[in-house]
Amino acid sequence: MNLNAASLFSSRAATLQPSAIRELSKLAREPGMISFAGGTPDPALFPVESIAAAAADILANSGLQRECLQYGVSEGYLPLREAIAHYMSRKRIQASAADVLITCGSQQGLDFIGKLFVDPGDRILVTRPSYLGALQAFSLCEPCFVAIPQDTQGLDLVALERELAARPKFLYLVPDFANPTGLSLPLANRLAIIECARRYRVPIVEDQAYEALAYDDPPLPTLYELAQLDAQGGQSACVIYLGTFSKMLVPGLRIGWMLGPAAIHRALVPLKQAADLHSSVLDQMIIARVFERALDEHLAKLRSTYRARRDAMIAALEGCAVPGLDWSEPRGGMFVWLTFPETVDAAEILAHCIRNHRVLFVPGAPFHTDGTGRNTARLCFAAASPEVIREGVRRIAQAATEVLDAGPKAQTRVPAP
Ligand SMILES: Cc1ncc(COP(=O)(O)O)c(C=O)c1O
Repeated sequence: MNLNAASLFSSRAATLQPSAIRELSKLAREPGMISFAGGTPDPALFPVESIAAAAADILANSGLQRECLQYGVSEGYLPLREAIAHYMSRKRIQASAADVLITCGSQQGLDFIGKLFVDPGDRILVTRPSYLGALQAFSLCEPCFVAIPQDTQGLDLVALERELAARPKFLYLVPDFANPTGLSLPLANRLAIIECARRYRVPIVEDQAYEALAYDDPPLPTLYELAQLDAQGGQSACVIYLGTFSKMLVPGLRIGWMLGPAAIHRALVPLKQAADLHSSVLDQMIIARVFERALDEHLAKLRSTYRARRDAMIAALEGCAVPGLDWSEPRGGMFVWLTFPETVDAAEILAHCIRNHRVLFVPGAPFHTDGTGRNTARLCFAAASPEVIREGVRRIAQAATEVLDAGPKAQTRVPAP
C-alpha cells in the first residue's frame, strides 16, 4: 500500500519542529568538538552509588519489591509526594502531599498546562526569550504567543500590564537562573508581577527547574510563596509551580512535580491518567530515597563544581575582546546568554565555529517567538571543565572576530524587534 501518512497528520502535528538543540547534540559527539550546546547536567556528578544502593535495596526489600513493579496511583507515590511537600515547606510554601502531582519530568507538566488551558488561537504570555521546550509543548495547542521583554531588571512591567489586561490564558515564567538567559527576576519585579496577575486574574506558570542551583546568594522567594503572602481579601494570584529532579539529581529517571490550587490539581489528574496512567513507581521510590538521604550533600557538590565553571566562563568572556559582545552574569543555573552586535547572525558564527573551530553553542533565535534574537546565543557551562570552557570560549571569540572582520557582506541584517 502506498500510504502518504503525512497527509493524514493533524494540523497540530504539522506545527512540530525537531529541536535545534537535539540536532546539535549529534555534532557534539564528533572527536575534538567542544560543546556548550546541550542543556544537560554533568553525568560525572550523578549520584550513581546512592541511586544503585536505593534501587538494590528496594528490589531486595520484601515490602516493596512487588509494589515497585506494580501499577501505581496517578497522583504519584505517596512517600515521594510527602517528601516534596516537606521540601516545599523549606521554601516557605505551604503544601501537603495531596497538593502534589508527580509528572514525567517538568516537561510533562508543561504539556499538561498547554492541554488544560489552551485552545487554538488563545493568547499566552512568555518571556522574550523563553525556554524552548515550553514553547514546543505549548505550540502543540496552537496558541498565539505574546512575548514580554525581559532584562536584568526583570520583566517589562508596562508591557506585562498591557498584555495581562487583554486576559491571556496564562503567563509562563522561569524566575530563577532561566533557560536560556541565566537571568533571575529581582524581588521587586516578582512582587509587581504577582500583584498585577492577581488584579487581572491571570494564572502564572512558575517553572523552577534551576532553583536549587544558586551559587552566590540564598534563593529569592518563589512566586508561589509570594502569591500566598500577597493574598488580599481572600484573593491571591493563581500560581502553578513546576519542579523537577532533573537538574538537582538526575534527568534520566524523568521525575518532576506540579503544585497548584485544588481545582487545577483535580483537573490535572485525568490528564496524567490519559497520558501515561502514572510515572514509574520504581523510579519514584529511588528518587524518594536519594532525595531524603543524600540531597543536601549532593547539592553542595553540584553548586561548588558548577560555580567554578560559571566563574571560568565569565572570566574567559571578560578576557576575549570581541567588539560589541555582551553576556549575562548568572548567579546560578547552567547558562550564559550572549548578545552580539545587532547586525550579526549568531547562526552564521555557529556555522563558522563548526567548520573551522570545532565548538558548539545554541543560536538564540529559536528561543524567541517573534522573529527577534538572531544576534543572541546560549552557552551551557555545566558539563565542561574550566580548562575546556576557557578553550571553547577562546574558539568562539576567534570565530566571532573572523565573522565580524569579514564585514557586512557576510552578515545578515537583523529585523528590528
Ligand atoms: C526551564 C526548564 N523547564 C523544564 C525543563 C524540563 O525538564 P525535565 O527534565 O524535568 O522535563 C527544562 C530542561 O532543560 C528547563 O530548562
